[in-house]
Amino acid sequence: MRNRKILLTGAAGQIGQILTRELAKRYGSQNVIATDISGNPGFPCAFEKLDVLDRERMEKLVSENGITDLYHLAAILSATGEKNPQKAWDINMRGTLNALEVARVTDVERLFFPSSIAVFGIEIDREKAPQHAPLIPHSVYGISKAAGENWCNYYFEKYGLDVRSIRYPGVIGYESPPGGGTTDYAVDIFYKAVEEGHYACFLNANARLPMIYMDDAIRATIELMEAPSEKISIRTSYNLQGMSFTPAELFEEIKKFIPEVTIEYQPDYRQDIADSWPGRLDDQAAKADWGWKREFDISKLTETMYRGIKSLQQQTT
Ligand SMILES: NC(=O)c1ccc[n+]([C@@H]2O[C@H](COP(=O)([O-])OP(=O)(O)OC[C@H]3O[C@@H](n4cnc5c(N)ncnc54)[C@H](O)[C@@H]3O)[C@@H](O)[C@H]2O)c1
Repeated sequence: MRNRKILLTGAAGQIGQILTRELAKRYGSQNVIATDISGNPGFPCAFEKLDVLDRERMEKLVSENGITDLYHLAAILSATGEKNPQKAWDINMRGTLNALEVARVTDVERLFFPSSIAVFGIEIDREKAPQHAPLIPHSVYGISKAAGENWCNYYFEKYGLDVRSIRYPGVIGYESPPGGGTTDYAVDIFYKAVEEGHYACFLNANARLPMIYMDDAIRATIELMEAPSEKISIRTSYNLQGMSFTPAELFEEIKKFIPEVTIEYQPDYRQDIADSWPGRLDDQAAKADWGWKREFDISKLTETMYRGIKSLQQQTT
C-alpha cells in the first residue's frame, strides 16, 4: 500500500474533529486535509472550506493533493434532518454520490462512509438487529443512509471501488459537541448533570439504544480502513455494537458520581425516531472479518465522561 494521503469531509463535526486529530497523529499532519462547510475548529493539519454539494471543488482538492483515503463524514443528522427533510436528503445523498464519483475518477484507493443504526426501522428484531435486515427507515436521515450504503455496495461491485462502512451507534464523547442526532441526550445529560445537577431528557426513561464511546468508534474506523481488502466481506455497512442502555440506566450510573443529580422525562419528536431503532445490534460480522472488539462499557464510559467534563471545567476556570 502507498503512503496514505487523507481527506475528510464534514471534519468539523462531532466525530470528524476527533478522527482528524487521530489520523494526523497516525499518518502525519502533512498527510491529512480536513474540510467542512463551516470553520476550522483548530485542526493540527491543513483545512479547506468545502461544500460537499460542490463536486468540482471536491474533485480538484482530491486530485491535486493525490488523496488515497477519502473519509466522507458530512451529513445532516437524524433529528436535524426531520426539520428540513429535502435539505437533509440533498446533502446526504448528493454529497455521498459526489464522494463516490470523485473517488471513482481519481486515485482514491479507499472510501469511508459512515452509516447509522437509523437505517433500521419496522420489520426488524429490536432486541438484536441482524447484519442483514430489511431496511425500512423511519427518518429521512435513515432513508439517506440506507440508500448511501447500497450505493457504496454498487460502486464496489460495478467499479471495484474499495468502499468501507460502519453503522455507528450513538457516539458519545466530551471533546466535541454532538451535531443534532437522536442519541445526543447521552452527551447532554453529562454536561447538564455536572453543570446544573438536573437534566430534562427528550427520550423516555426506557428508550434502550445502542451507543459507543468515541475512542472505540474512532479505533473501529481506523481498524476497518487498515484491514486488508480481502477481509472485508460486507460492502454495504457493518453493524457495530458498543453498549446498550436506557436513559434511566445511564442516570443511575451518573448518580454514582453525582448523587444529588435529578432527571425528568419530556419525550418529544425524537422519541418517535428512537422507537423505530433497535436496542442492540448483532456485530458478529465485524468481529469475524476485521477483529472488532469494544473496550468501553457503561461504567467505563460514565467515569471517562464525568472526569473529562470536570477537567475541561477546571481548565476554563
Ligand atoms: N454522531 C453519531 O452519533 C453518529 C452516529 C451514526 C452515524 N454518524 C455519521 O457520522 C458522520 C459524522 O457525524 P457527526 O456526529 O460528526 O456529525 P456532525 O453533525 O457533528 O458533523 C457533520 C459535519 O458536516 C458538516 N456539513 C454539513 N453540511 C455540509 C456540506 N454541505 N458540506 C460540507 N460539510 C457539511 C457540518 O458542518 C458538520 O461539521 C455523519 O455522516 C453521521 O451521519 C454519526
